[in-house]
Amino acid sequence: MDVLSRPLIDRTLPLLAEGYAWLPNRMRDATGPVVRTRIMGRPALALRGPEAVRFFYDEENVHRHRAIPEPVLATLFGHEAVHTLDGAAHRARKSLFLPLLEPGRVAGLVDHVTAAWDEAVPAWGRRGSVVLFDEAGTVLATGVHRWAGIPLDDADAAATARDMIAMVDGFATAGPRHLRARRARARQEDRLGRLVRDVRSGEVTAPAGSVLDLVCRHRDADGEQLDEKTAAVELLNVVRPTTAVAWFVAFAAHALHRWPEHRAPLADGDLPFTAAFTHEVRRFYPFVPFLGGLAVRDLYWRGEWIPAGGLVVLDVYGQNHDESLWGDPYAFRPRRFLERPVERDELIPQGGGDPATGHRCPGEGITVGVLEALAGRLARMEYSVPEQNLTIPLNRVPTRPHSGVLLAGIRPAAG
Ligand code: HEM
Repeated sequence: MDVLSRPLIDRTLPLLAEGYAWLPNRMRDATGPVVRTRIMGRPALALRGPEAVRFFYDEENVHRHRAIPEPVLATLFGHEAVHTLDGAAHRARKSLFLPLLEPGRVAGLVDHVTAAWDEAVPAWGRRGSVVLFDEAGTVLATGVHRWAGIPLDDADAAATARDMIAMVDGFATAGPRHLRARRARARQEDRLGRLVRDVRSGEVTAPAGSVLDLVCRHRDADGEQLDEKTAAVELLNVVRPTTAVAWFVAFAAHALHRWPEHRAPLADGDLPFTAAFTHEVRRFYPFVPFLGGLAVRDLYWRGEWIPAGGLVVLDVYGQNHDESLWGDPYAFRPRRFLERPVERDELIPQGGGDPATGHRCPGEGITVGVLEALAGRLARMEYSVPEQNLTIPLNRVPTRPHSGVLLAGIRPAAG
Protein backbone atom coordinates (compact mmCIF):
# COMPACT_ATOMS: atom_id res chain seq x y z
CA MET A 1 0.00 0.00 0.00
CA ASP A 2 1.51 3.38 -0.92
CA VAL A 3 1.56 6.39 1.34
CA LEU A 4 -1.14 8.16 -0.65
CA SER A 5 -3.64 5.42 0.15
CA ARG A 6 -2.41 4.45 3.63
CA PRO A 7 -5.30 4.99 6.07
CA LEU A 8 -3.65 7.65 8.18
CA ILE A 9 -6.11 9.55 10.27
CA ASP A 10 -6.42 13.06 8.91
CA ARG A 11 -4.87 15.47 11.42
CA THR A 12 -6.48 18.65 10.13
CA LEU A 13 -8.93 18.93 13.02
CA PRO A 14 -6.44 18.28 15.85
CA LEU A 15 -4.20 20.79 14.12
CA LEU A 16 -6.83 23.51 14.40
CA ALA A 17 -7.62 22.56 17.99
CA GLU A 18 -4.03 22.22 19.28
CA GLY A 19 -2.56 25.16 17.36
CA TYR A 20 1.14 25.71 18.02
CA ALA A 21 1.46 22.60 20.17
CA TRP A 22 0.22 20.28 17.44
CA LEU A 23 3.45 19.50 15.55
CA PRO A 24 5.78 19.68 18.56
CA ASN A 25 3.45 17.21 20.33
CA ARG A 26 3.55 14.85 17.35
CA MET A 27 7.36 15.22 17.19
CA ARG A 28 7.63 14.31 20.85
CA ASP A 29 5.54 11.19 20.27
CA ALA A 30 7.45 10.19 17.10
CA THR A 31 10.24 7.63 17.25
CA GLY A 32 12.41 9.31 14.57
CA PRO A 33 13.27 12.89 13.53
CA VAL A 34 10.17 13.36 11.36
CA VAL A 35 6.41 13.18 11.71
CA ARG A 36 4.26 11.50 9.13
CA THR A 37 0.67 12.70 9.14
CA ARG A 38 -2.18 13.90 6.91
CA ILE A 39 -3.26 17.47 6.41
CA MET A 40 -6.30 18.43 4.37
CA GLY A 41 -6.44 15.00 2.82
CA ARG A 42 -2.78 14.90 1.72
CA PRO A 43 0.00 12.74 3.14
CA ALA A 44 2.38 15.06 4.94
CA LEU A 45 5.90 14.80 6.30
CA ALA A 46 6.96 17.33 8.91
CA LEU A 47 10.63 18.20 9.38
CA ARG A 48 12.77 20.51 11.44
CA GLY A 49 16.42 21.48 11.88
CA PRO A 50 18.92 23.42 9.72
CA GLU A 51 19.44 20.50 7.32
CA ALA A 52 15.68 20.12 6.94
CA VAL A 53 15.50 23.84 6.14
CA ARG A 54 17.95 23.38 3.26
CA PHE A 55 16.00 20.35 2.01
CA PHE A 56 12.72 22.26 2.20
CA TYR A 57 14.04 25.35 0.38
CA ASP A 58 15.62 23.33 -2.47
CA GLU A 59 13.34 23.93 -5.47
CA GLU A 60 14.28 20.51 -6.82
CA ASN A 61 12.44 19.09 -3.81
CA VAL A 62 9.59 21.40 -2.85
CA HIS A 63 7.33 23.72 -4.83
CA ARG A 64 4.84 26.33 -3.63
CA HIS A 65 2.54 26.34 -6.64
CA ARG A 66 -0.87 25.04 -5.49
CA ALA A 67 0.55 24.32 -2.02
CA ILE A 68 -1.25 27.17 -0.26
CA PRO A 69 -4.95 26.54 0.46
CA GLU A 70 -7.49 29.01 -0.89
CA PRO A 71 -8.61 30.25 2.56
CA VAL A 72 -5.01 31.32 3.24
CA LEU A 73 -4.64 33.05 -0.15
CA ALA A 74 -7.99 34.83 0.27
CA THR A 75 -6.91 36.31 3.60
CA LEU A 76 -3.19 36.30 4.34
CA PHE A 77 -1.23 36.39 1.08
CA GLY A 78 -3.62 37.22 -1.79
CA HIS A 79 -4.18 35.25 -4.99
CA GLU A 80 -1.23 35.21 -7.44
CA ALA A 81 1.08 36.52 -4.67
CA VAL A 82 4.86 36.03 -4.77
CA HIS A 83 4.40 33.31 -2.13
CA THR A 84 2.71 31.05 -4.71
CA LEU A 85 5.37 31.21 -7.45
CA ASP A 86 8.31 28.94 -8.30
CA GLY A 87 11.42 29.10 -10.51
CA ALA A 88 11.88 31.98 -12.98
CA ALA A 89 8.44 33.45 -12.21
CA HIS A 90 9.31 33.57 -8.50
CA ARG A 91 12.73 35.13 -9.07
CA ALA A 92 11.30 37.85 -11.33
CA ARG A 93 8.57 38.74 -8.82
CA LYS A 94 10.93 38.44 -5.84
CA SER A 95 13.20 41.08 -7.43
CA LEU A 96 10.44 43.53 -6.53
CA PHE A 97 10.98 42.82 -2.83
CA LEU A 98 14.76 42.48 -2.69
CA PRO A 99 15.34 46.26 -2.32
CA LEU A 100 13.56 45.89 1.05
CA LEU A 101 16.68 44.11 2.29
CA GLU A 102 18.90 47.18 1.72
CA PRO A 103 20.00 48.76 5.03
CA GLY A 104 19.25 52.28 3.72
CA ARG A 105 15.64 51.37 2.96
CA VAL A 106 15.24 49.68 6.34
CA ALA A 107 16.59 52.80 8.06
CA GLY A 108 14.13 54.95 6.10
CA LEU A 109 11.20 52.86 7.28
CA VAL A 110 12.45 52.82 10.87
CA ASP A 111 12.57 56.64 10.76
CA HIS A 112 8.97 56.85 9.55
CA VAL A 113 7.71 54.34 12.12
CA THR A 114 9.53 55.94 15.04
CA ALA A 115 8.27 59.38 13.98
CA ALA A 116 4.70 58.02 13.92
CA TRP A 117 5.26 56.45 17.39
CA ASP A 118 6.62 59.71 18.82
CA GLU A 119 3.62 61.60 17.39
CA ALA A 120 1.19 59.09 18.95
CA VAL A 121 2.58 58.72 22.47
CA PRO A 122 1.37 62.07 23.96
CA ALA A 123 -2.22 61.22 22.95
CA TRP A 124 -1.90 57.78 24.60
CA GLY A 125 -0.99 59.58 27.80
CA ARG A 126 -4.07 61.83 27.59
CA ARG A 127 -6.37 58.81 27.07
CA GLY A 128 -5.53 57.22 30.42
CA SER A 129 -4.97 53.72 29.03
CA VAL A 130 -4.44 52.11 25.64
CA VAL A 131 -4.21 48.61 24.17
CA LEU A 132 -0.65 48.51 22.90
CA PHE A 133 -1.31 45.91 20.18
CA ASP A 134 -3.93 48.16 18.55
CA GLU A 135 -1.93 51.37 18.89
CA ALA A 136 1.27 49.75 17.57
CA GLY A 137 -0.72 48.56 14.53
CA THR A 138 -1.84 52.12 13.77
CA VAL A 139 1.69 53.49 14.22
CA LEU A 140 3.16 50.80 11.96
CA ALA A 141 0.48 51.23 9.28
CA THR A 142 1.05 55.01 9.31
CA GLY A 143 4.83 54.65 9.05
CA VAL A 144 4.81 52.06 6.29
CA HIS A 145 2.33 54.02 4.16
CA ARG A 146 4.44 57.18 4.38
CA TRP A 147 7.61 55.25 3.56
CA ALA A 148 6.05 53.28 0.68
CA GLY A 149 4.62 56.44 -0.91
CA ILE A 150 1.03 55.22 -0.44
CA PRO A 151 -1.38 58.02 0.50
CA LEU A 152 -3.21 57.53 3.81
CA ASP A 153 -5.18 60.18 5.71
CA ASP A 154 -4.36 60.16 9.42
CA ALA A 155 -8.10 59.78 10.05
CA ASP A 156 -8.09 56.45 8.15
CA ALA A 157 -4.96 55.02 9.77
CA ALA A 158 -6.63 53.09 12.60
CA ALA A 159 -9.26 51.48 10.34
CA THR A 160 -6.61 50.59 7.74
CA ALA A 161 -4.42 49.05 10.44
CA ARG A 162 -7.41 47.02 11.66
CA ASP A 163 -7.85 45.61 8.14
CA MET A 164 -4.15 44.67 7.91
CA ILE A 165 -4.31 42.98 11.31
CA ALA A 166 -7.58 41.21 10.41
CA MET A 167 -6.01 39.64 7.30
CA VAL A 168 -3.32 38.03 9.46
CA ASP A 169 -5.60 37.22 12.37
CA GLY A 170 -8.19 35.31 10.33
CA PHE A 171 -6.19 33.06 8.01
CA ALA A 172 -6.22 29.93 10.16
CA THR A 173 -9.82 29.83 11.36
CA ALA A 174 -13.18 29.09 9.81
CA GLY A 175 -15.36 31.39 11.91
CA PRO A 176 -16.10 35.13 12.09
CA ARG A 177 -12.39 36.04 12.23
CA HIS A 178 -11.99 34.42 8.81
CA LEU A 179 -14.91 36.34 7.31
CA ARG A 180 -13.50 39.57 8.71
CA ALA A 181 -10.18 38.75 7.07
CA ARG A 182 -11.78 38.14 3.67
CA ARG A 183 -13.73 41.40 3.86
CA ALA A 184 -10.63 43.31 4.94
CA ARG A 185 -8.65 41.94 2.01
CA ALA A 186 -11.39 42.76 -0.49
CA ARG A 187 -11.59 46.34 0.84
CA GLN A 188 -7.82 46.89 0.79
CA GLU A 189 -7.25 45.26 -2.61
CA ASP A 190 -9.96 47.54 -3.96
CA ARG A 191 -8.37 50.67 -2.44
CA LEU A 192 -4.86 49.85 -3.63
CA GLY A 193 -6.01 48.58 -7.05
CA ARG A 194 -7.64 51.99 -7.66
CA LEU A 195 -4.44 53.70 -6.53
CA VAL A 196 -2.36 51.65 -9.00
CA ARG A 197 -4.78 52.63 -11.78
CA ASP A 198 -4.50 56.31 -10.82
CA VAL A 199 -0.69 56.18 -10.72
CA ARG A 200 -0.53 54.55 -14.13
CA SER A 201 -2.96 57.06 -15.62
CA GLY A 202 -0.93 59.94 -14.18
CA GLU A 203 -3.70 61.12 -11.86
CA VAL A 204 -1.57 60.35 -8.78
CA THR A 205 2.23 60.66 -8.65
CA ALA A 206 4.16 57.88 -6.95
CA PRO A 207 7.38 59.22 -5.35
CA ALA A 208 10.28 58.04 -7.56
CA GLY A 209 11.84 54.83 -6.24
CA SER A 210 9.10 54.30 -3.62
CA VAL A 211 7.53 50.87 -3.14
CA LEU A 212 4.39 52.21 -4.85
CA ASP A 213 6.47 53.34 -7.84
CA LEU A 214 8.36 50.01 -8.04
CA VAL A 215 5.18 47.93 -7.91
CA CYS A 216 3.38 50.06 -10.53
CA ARG A 217 6.32 49.76 -12.93
CA HIS A 218 7.35 46.15 -12.20
CA ARG A 219 7.38 43.64 -15.06
CA ASP A 220 7.04 39.92 -14.41
CA ALA A 221 9.03 37.12 -16.09
CA ASP A 222 6.65 37.31 -19.09
CA GLY A 223 7.54 41.01 -19.59
CA GLU A 224 4.03 42.14 -18.61
CA GLN A 225 3.13 44.67 -15.93
CA LEU A 226 1.20 43.31 -12.96
CA ASP A 227 -2.55 43.67 -13.39
CA GLU A 228 -4.14 46.09 -10.91
CA LYS A 229 -5.34 43.36 -8.56
CA THR A 230 -1.97 41.60 -8.41
CA ALA A 231 -0.19 44.94 -7.94
CA ALA A 232 -2.55 45.61 -5.01
CA VAL A 233 -1.79 42.13 -3.63
CA GLU A 234 1.95 42.84 -3.70
CA LEU A 235 1.55 46.31 -2.15
CA LEU A 236 -0.36 44.59 0.62
CA ASN A 237 2.51 42.11 0.92
CA VAL A 238 4.59 45.02 2.19
CA VAL A 239 2.00 47.02 4.16
CA ARG A 240 0.26 44.08 5.88
CA PRO A 241 3.32 42.30 7.33
CA THR A 242 4.89 45.58 8.41
CA THR A 243 1.69 46.35 10.33
CA ALA A 244 1.86 42.81 11.71
CA VAL A 245 5.08 43.67 13.54
CA ALA A 246 2.46 44.82 16.13
CA TRP A 247 2.38 41.16 17.26
CA PHE A 248 6.07 41.34 18.14
CA VAL A 249 5.67 44.76 19.78
CA ALA A 250 2.97 43.30 22.04
CA PHE A 251 5.20 40.30 22.75
CA ALA A 252 8.13 42.62 23.55
CA ALA A 253 5.95 44.49 26.06
CA HIS A 254 4.85 41.15 27.52
CA ALA A 255 8.51 40.13 27.93
CA LEU A 256 9.41 43.45 29.59
CA HIS A 257 6.54 43.01 32.05
CA ARG A 258 7.37 39.39 32.80
CA TRP A 259 11.17 39.84 32.95
CA PRO A 260 11.76 43.52 33.86
CA GLU A 261 15.52 42.98 34.17
CA HIS A 262 15.72 43.40 30.37
CA ARG A 263 14.38 46.96 30.50
CA ALA A 264 17.60 48.72 31.57
CA PRO A 265 19.93 47.53 28.77
CA LEU A 266 17.24 48.32 26.20
CA ALA A 267 16.58 51.75 27.68
CA ASP A 268 20.34 52.45 27.79
CA GLY A 269 20.61 51.78 24.06
CA ASP A 270 22.89 48.73 24.46
CA LEU A 271 22.86 47.79 20.74
CA PRO A 272 24.12 44.18 20.91
CA PHE A 273 21.64 43.45 23.71
CA THR A 274 18.81 45.15 21.80
CA ALA A 275 19.53 42.97 18.75
CA ALA A 276 19.65 39.87 20.98
CA PHE A 277 16.36 40.80 22.70
CA THR A 278 14.69 41.25 19.31
CA HIS A 279 15.87 37.84 18.10
CA GLU A 280 14.72 36.22 21.34
CA VAL A 281 11.26 37.80 20.98
CA ARG A 282 11.02 36.39 17.44
CA ARG A 283 12.30 32.97 18.57
CA PHE A 284 10.46 32.55 21.84
CA TYR A 285 6.96 33.87 21.15
CA PRO A 286 4.60 31.92 18.89
CA PHE A 287 3.71 33.55 15.57
CA VAL A 288 4.26 31.46 12.40
CA PRO A 289 3.42 27.83 13.29
CA PHE A 290 4.78 26.04 10.20
CA LEU A 291 5.29 26.37 6.45
CA GLY A 292 4.24 23.94 3.73
CA GLY A 293 5.09 23.06 0.15
CA LEU A 294 4.46 20.17 -2.25
CA ALA A 295 6.99 17.43 -3.07
CA VAL A 296 8.08 17.97 -6.69
CA ARG A 297 8.93 14.27 -7.04
CA ASP A 298 9.16 11.21 -4.81
CA LEU A 299 11.40 12.36 -1.97
CA TYR A 300 13.30 10.71 0.87
CA TRP A 301 14.16 12.53 4.05
CA ARG A 302 16.23 10.56 6.56
CA GLY A 303 14.90 7.36 5.05
CA GLU A 304 11.25 8.49 5.12
CA TRP A 305 9.46 8.55 1.80
CA ILE A 306 7.10 11.29 0.70
CA PRO A 307 5.41 10.74 -2.65
CA ALA A 308 5.32 13.37 -5.42
CA GLY A 309 2.47 15.75 -4.56
CA GLY A 310 2.70 15.04 -0.82
CA LEU A 311 2.93 17.91 1.64
CA VAL A 312 6.32 18.77 3.11
CA VAL A 313 5.94 20.77 6.31
CA LEU A 314 8.67 22.80 7.96
CA ASP A 315 7.99 22.93 11.71
CA VAL A 316 8.87 26.60 12.34
CA TYR A 317 7.60 26.90 15.91
CA GLY A 318 9.08 23.49 16.76
CA GLN A 319 12.50 24.39 15.38
CA ASN A 320 12.54 27.69 17.25
CA HIS A 321 11.93 25.66 20.44
CA ASP A 322 14.15 22.69 19.64
CA GLU A 323 16.16 21.76 22.74
CA SER A 324 19.10 20.58 20.61
CA LEU A 325 19.43 24.02 18.99
CA TRP A 326 18.44 26.33 21.80
CA GLY A 327 19.12 24.62 25.17
CA ASP A 328 16.34 25.45 27.67
CA PRO A 329 14.20 26.67 24.75
CA TYR A 330 11.20 27.68 26.86
CA ALA A 331 13.29 30.15 28.87
CA PHE A 332 13.25 33.74 27.57
CA ARG A 333 16.98 34.43 27.53
CA PRO A 334 18.12 37.14 25.04
CA ARG A 335 21.76 36.67 26.00
CA ARG A 336 21.80 33.28 24.28
CA PHE A 337 22.24 35.31 21.08
CA LEU A 338 25.35 37.00 22.51
CA GLU A 339 26.95 33.70 23.51
CA ARG A 340 27.35 32.16 20.05
CA PRO A 341 26.80 33.17 16.43
CA VAL A 342 23.48 31.86 15.14
CA GLU A 343 23.52 30.24 11.69
CA ARG A 344 21.23 31.35 8.86
CA ASP A 345 19.04 28.25 8.99
CA GLU A 346 18.77 27.89 12.77
CA LEU A 347 16.52 30.84 13.64
CA ILE A 348 13.57 30.69 11.26
CA PRO A 349 10.61 32.77 12.54
CA GLN A 350 10.43 34.32 9.04
CA GLY A 351 11.43 31.26 7.04
CA GLY A 352 14.88 29.90 6.18
CA GLY A 353 17.35 29.72 3.31
CA ASP A 354 18.46 32.71 1.22
CA PRO A 355 15.84 35.44 0.76
CA ALA A 356 17.35 36.43 -2.59
CA THR A 357 16.79 33.05 -4.19
CA GLY A 358 14.12 31.30 -2.11
CA HIS A 359 10.92 32.22 -0.29
CA ARG A 360 12.54 33.45 2.92
CA CYS A 361 10.91 36.67 4.10
CA PRO A 362 12.48 39.76 2.50
CA GLY A 363 11.14 41.80 5.41
CA GLU A 364 13.32 40.27 8.12
CA GLY A 365 15.67 43.29 8.23
CA ILE A 366 12.65 45.58 8.45
CA THR A 367 11.11 43.51 11.24
CA VAL A 368 14.32 43.47 13.25
CA GLY A 369 15.07 47.16 12.64
CA VAL A 370 11.57 48.32 13.56
CA LEU A 371 11.36 46.05 16.59
CA GLU A 372 14.76 47.16 17.89
CA ALA A 373 13.69 50.80 17.64
CA LEU A 374 10.29 50.27 19.26
CA ALA A 375 11.60 47.96 22.00
CA GLY A 376 14.01 50.73 23.00
CA ARG A 377 11.19 53.28 23.05
CA LEU A 378 8.96 50.94 25.08
CA ALA A 379 11.72 50.37 27.60
CA ARG A 380 12.25 54.13 28.02
CA MET A 381 8.52 54.97 28.22
CA GLU A 382 6.91 55.32 31.65
CA TYR A 383 3.69 53.34 32.13
CA SER A 384 1.92 50.95 34.43
CA VAL A 385 0.42 47.58 33.55
CA PRO A 386 -3.05 47.31 35.13
CA GLU A 387 -4.59 43.97 36.15
CA GLN A 388 -5.50 42.14 32.92
CA ASN A 389 -5.40 38.76 31.18
CA LEU A 390 -1.93 38.49 29.67
CA THR A 391 -2.08 34.77 28.91
CA ILE A 392 -1.06 33.73 25.40
CA PRO A 393 -3.28 30.82 24.35
CA LEU A 394 -1.32 28.29 22.28
CA ASN A 395 -4.45 26.89 20.65
CA ARG A 396 -5.17 30.19 18.87
CA VAL A 397 -3.28 30.82 15.59
CA PRO A 398 -1.99 33.46 15.38
CA THR A 399 -1.98 34.06 19.10
CA ARG A 400 -1.16 37.11 21.22
CA PRO A 401 -1.52 38.23 24.84
CA HIS A 402 -5.24 37.97 25.50
CA SER A 403 -5.65 41.62 26.55
CA GLY A 404 -3.50 43.00 23.73
CA VAL A 405 -1.33 44.47 26.56
CA LEU A 406 -3.19 47.28 28.29
CA LEU A 407 -0.89 50.14 29.35
CA ALA A 408 -1.93 53.00 31.64
CA GLY A 409 -0.44 56.29 32.82
CA ILE A 410 1.82 56.60 29.80
CA ARG A 411 4.49 59.28 29.85
CA PRO A 412 7.00 59.59 27.00
CA ALA A 413 10.63 59.02 27.80
CA ALA A 414 12.43 62.04 29.18
CA GLY A 415 15.08 63.39 26.78
C1 HEM B 1 7.40 35.71 3.45
C2 HEM B 1 7.12 35.85 8.27
C3 HEM B 1 7.41 40.67 8.14
C4 HEM B 1 7.26 40.55 3.32
C5 HEM B 1 7.38 35.37 4.77
C6 HEM B 1 7.38 34.01 5.24
C7 HEM B 1 7.29 34.05 6.58
C8 HEM B 1 7.26 35.42 6.97
C9 HEM B 1 7.24 32.86 7.53
C10 HEM B 1 7.33 32.78 4.36
C11 HEM B 1 8.65 32.14 4.11
C12 HEM B 1 8.44 30.95 3.20
O1 HEM B 1 7.40 30.82 2.55
O2 HEM B 1 9.34 30.12 3.12
C13 HEM B 1 7.09 37.18 8.64
C14 HEM B 1 6.90 37.64 9.99
C15 HEM B 1 6.97 38.99 9.95
C16 HEM B 1 7.21 39.38 8.58
C17 HEM B 1 6.67 36.76 11.20
C18 HEM B 1 6.84 39.94 11.10
C19 HEM B 1 5.72 40.53 11.31
C20 HEM B 1 7.51 41.04 6.82
C21 HEM B 1 7.71 42.38 6.38
C22 HEM B 1 7.67 42.34 5.01
C23 HEM B 1 7.43 40.97 4.61
C24 HEM B 1 7.96 43.56 7.30
C25 HEM B 1 7.82 43.45 4.02
C26 HEM B 1 7.95 44.71 4.32
C27 HEM B 1 7.21 39.23 2.95
C28 HEM B 1 7.08 38.77 1.56
C29 HEM B 1 7.15 37.37 1.60
C30 HEM B 1 7.29 37.01 3.00
C31 HEM B 1 6.93 39.65 0.34
C32 HEM B 1 7.08 36.40 0.43
C33 HEM B 1 8.48 35.97 0.01
C34 HEM B 1 8.52 34.93 -1.08
O3 HEM B 1 7.55 34.17 -1.24
O4 HEM B 1 9.55 34.86 -1.76
N1 HEM B 1 7.33 36.21 5.84
N2 HEM B 1 7.27 38.25 7.82
N3 HEM B 1 7.35 40.22 5.74
N4 HEM B 1 7.33 38.14 3.78
FE1 HEM B 1 7.43 38.21 5.77
